[in-house]
Amino acid sequence: MKIIARAHTNIALIKYWGKADSSLKIPLMSSISMTLDAFYTETEFTHNVDLANDMVIMNGKAVNDQASYRIINYVKKLQDIYGFNDHFCIKTENHVPTAAGLASSASGFAALATSFAASYNLNLNRQELSRIARLGSGSATRSIFGGFVEWQKGYDDQTSFAFPINEHPQMDLTMLAVELDVSQKDISSTCGMKIAQTSPFYQTWLNRNKQEISEMESAIKNNNFTRLGELSELSANEMHSLNLTAMQSFSYFQPTTITIMNLVRNLRKNGIECYYTIDAGPNVKILCQDKSVEDICKAIHNTLDSVKIIKSKFGPGVQIINCDD
Ligand code: DP6
Repeated sequence: MKIIARAHTNIALIKYWGKADSSLKIPLMSSISMTLDAFYTETEFTHNVDLANDMVIMNGKAVNDQASYRIINYVKKLQDIYGFNDHFCIKTENHVPTAAGLASSASGFAALATSFAASYNLNLNRQELSRIARLGSGSATRSIFGGFVEWQKGYDDQTSFAFPINEHPQMDLTMLAVELDVSQKDISSTCGMKIAQTSPFYQTWLNRNKQEISEMESAIKNNNFTRLGELSELSANEMHSLNLTAMQSFSYFQPTTITIMNLVRNLRKNGIECYYTIDAGPNVKILCQDKSVEDICKAIHNTLDSVKIIKSKFGPGVQIINCDD
């Protein structure tokens, strides 16, 4: 029987940027995200004592690199937890274009956790799926759910998981992913957040987390786009300030990143309401409402004429899409 899980990726509005426990990926702060409809991963996990080796096939090609070791080690960790040790094969198709500048690890590990659990008939509920997705990549914890999602930091493996704030939000909210640079980043998220913890402002940022989460929850509940945008931009600015002020200072920004940040601020001054957020890379994501999409795309193309812009709205939680052979 074929078991394929589909998970959508997400963009953090209140950022996760630092761990209390690296091996269990317990974060130092809670985070809130929006699951995106335009980007997803589909994964089929099969296991069998007759397989000679563990295998990872990505977008139709067998892979044997750093990324596949991370995936294989993750599955072995899950097998240890649940008491299995047979060989396995993972077939995964990524529908997260590099152009979007969005990490595929969130959707990738959420889909893998779900297909693993289904394949071994573990009967896990979504909270448990969220917990085991976390062991693959922190941001995957949130991709189990659709709409607006919160990952409560918790304090151990049992208490750190995500839950939906609203899986079917009515908010008029679009995310525009602006492609500025698609080359592989030098500093991975895992590495970057470790370095950021040496910033003298790190504790201050942690101290603010509770309030930022509760303000974002209110903005979502009250359908308040303006407040949601302001808080998202602030959280991104805080995260990137930590990188700049770390002992070993670094930045994910390229000159064009700053161009788009300025453009967003100028658009706002001119009455076109939009806000930016940026993850561990140079690409900028713009949060806006339907009525402004055209004006924003025009303004971007007037400044940087050839950049690709990918539009996304709310996506669903993880699903098993096909159980037939
Ligand atoms: C900036 O989830 O990729 O996107 O847990 O080490 O795998 P690991 O890191 P990852 O970090 C994501 C960081 C971020 C913010 C966020 O998604 O909350």
